[in-house]
Amino acid sequence: MSAALQGPDLGVCYYPEQWPETLWAGDAARMVALGLSWVRIAEFAWARIEPEAGRFDWGWLDRAVETLGQAGLKVIMSTPTAAPPRWLVDRHPEILPVDDRGITRKFGSRRHYCFSSPRYRIEAARICRAVAERYGANPHVQAWQIDNEYGDHDTIHSYSDAAGAAFRDWLKARYGSIGALNTAWGTSFWAMTYADFAQIELPNNLVEEPSPTHLVDYLRFASDEVRAFNKAQVEVIRPLSPGRPITHNYMNQHTAFDHYELGQDLDIASWDVYPLGGLVHGRLPEADKARYLRVGDPDQTAFNHELYRTVGKGRVWVMEQQPGPVNWASHNQAPADGMVRLWTWLAYAHGVEMVSYFRWRQAPFAQEQFHAALMLPDNRPDQAHGEIERVAAERHLLPALGPRPAARVALVLDYASRWASQSLPQGATYRAAHIALDWYAALRRHGVDVDIIGQHSDVAPYDLVVAPDLLIVDDGFIQRLKAARTRVVFGPRSGSKTRDMQIPAGLAGGPLAPLIDLRVTRVESLPPYHREAVRYGNATRPGGKWRETVDSPEAVLATFEAGQRAASPALIGNDKCRYVATLPEPDLLARILTDALTWAGVDHLDDLGDLRITRRGNLGFAFNYGPDAAEVPAPRTARFLIGERRLGPVDVAVWDEGG
Ligand code: GAL
Repeated sequence: MSAALQGPDLGVCYYPEQWPETLWAGDAARMVALGLSWVRIAEFAWARIEPEAGRFDWGWLDRAVETLGQAGLKVIMSTPTAAPPRWLVDRHPEILPVDDRGITRKFGSRRHYCFSSPRYRIEAARICRAVAERYGANPHVQAWQIDNEYGDHDTIHSYSDAAGAAFRDWLKARYGSIGALNTAWGTSFWAMTYADFAQIELPNNLVEEPSPTHLVDYLRFASDEVRAFNKAQVEVIRPLSPGRPITHNYMNQHTAFDHYELGQDLDIASWDVYPLGGLVHGRLPEADKARYLRVGDPDQTAFNHELYRTVGKGRVWVMEQQPGPVNWASHNQAPADGMVRLWTWLAYAHGVEMVSYFRWRQAPFAQEQFHAALMLPDNRPDQAHGEIERVAAERHLLPALGPRPAARVALVLDYASRWASQSLPQGATYRAAHIALDWYAALRRHGVDVDIIGQHSDVAPYDLVVAPDLLIVDDGFIQRLKAARTRVVFGPRSGSKTRDMQIPAGLAGGPLAPLIDLRVTRVESLPPYHREAVRYGNATRPGGKWRETVDSPEAVLATFEAGQRAASPALIGNDKCRYVATLPEPDLLARILTDALTWAGVDHLDDLGDLRITRRGNLGFAFNYGPDAAEVPAPRTARFLIGERRLGPVDVAVWDEGG
């Protein structure tokens, strides 16, 4: 359980190996003067720690830890496995990953390793042990980060010989007999039958797409490999560094491995917050991207805070916060002045305990020289420095708060379902990540707090659970929903695949039977130049890029209006559960979800436009993402602690709601 905090703890990512030692003490003193208390180091330092096989150079890192610690900073020590050194690649080239064309990815940047390489597993455990033995009991080292951003640069999936061999072992353990695998994968189709596990290959470089079960099994296998890789390091560190929490820094809605499962082995989930690249590469139409160019998608960052709160079993940090323009997106605009402060308060409002900025000083060399930092390369403060100074001072205006309590509404994000729709998208524009964020945003625009949960999560606290893309349902989850008082809204495709990626015997939707009775008899994906009209209440609105024909005895709440199968149900429901047979466009989605809130007895506000509000304990928080000042919908009796009721652009207000 996290301690009560007065505002967020603050920290920074620092690279002593990149700077002359003469700068370190001054840097540390300025960090402390700024109000920072944490510093993350060493995640890319393997080549400096072990310049040749078996020869360790600890002196510089000992002195760096001592300098930072003596200044009053708590060190987050990292294991350096995200960047194996050149000599290791020369000795063991088989550790390199292989891409889906079968081409080996080379040394010269980072993350050049294959999770399935037995040799790399040995080497990773070895360097992890060396670092943990050296610093596990060091009083300045107060937390650990393992590796760096699993999955960055598309590195979860490797098609190496080692991965092939490990995949075959994994399949043997899962299926027991080759007959069972043939049945699950449907290999009677296209003469794909196997006589032996030894014949099975990885699902890359095929003439046409693989069996979806083959692909999903590979994705599940790859996820398990990441978990095993991470867990091996956790097991090394725990006994050598008792009492220090262990984390990993995840990424913006990255779903190539099951974060809930990996999170079971860690103490805190942390993630790296780069909202402007997230906007440019994200879900919004271009007009909205232009509107939010320098502030980011108003919902994407909060969505990830909710997700990683659950992944971290209640504990979440921001390990890297964007401080200015970055270098890696397709275009790299600067944040509006004030956004670094806004993002920091946003994190705290959504339950984040610590916000650490990436990075202390902008590097004048190498790949990220366009990436802003808190300090310019000439060591003068950049924009974010002043904004952090302000946050550090504002913290004292707030009372200490405990962890963020459960919301009344939860949205289900399920990794296995993401892999299912990835393997059978059935439409070029079907993007589960965008759909989930659209549903979340529709609720948040009405001032409703939303938790993000998995099928393993407790559903009892919630009045309403929404599941926008739950293709594969667990029977146990459905039973727990049934037993709870919660009401449920399922999106299209829910319950449409078995664990083996087949259509359920009673047709899609069938596994939802304890909650709602339906069968999907036809599915259509629709191109962007056509939208089905849906009649709901007194209005007809555009439906979306997806349409199902549903056969159900349940009440029909909305219908398709098009000439084709006119009046077939678009929304059905009973007292407990509703099913949406389309992917609604924003207006229709807002209407369906706000009606569901009313049905579930959850209060909500009118559309907040560019404003977002949330609550943590007795405090209300408002964030203005728009170009104009806006009125904060705080209770009349609210006592403002930061900002005021009339909230300017790029500004934050915090008030005490009493109680
Ligand atoms: C992150 C990564 C950092 C740095 C940063 C730049 O993805 O963890 O090492 O590269 O991006 O924005």
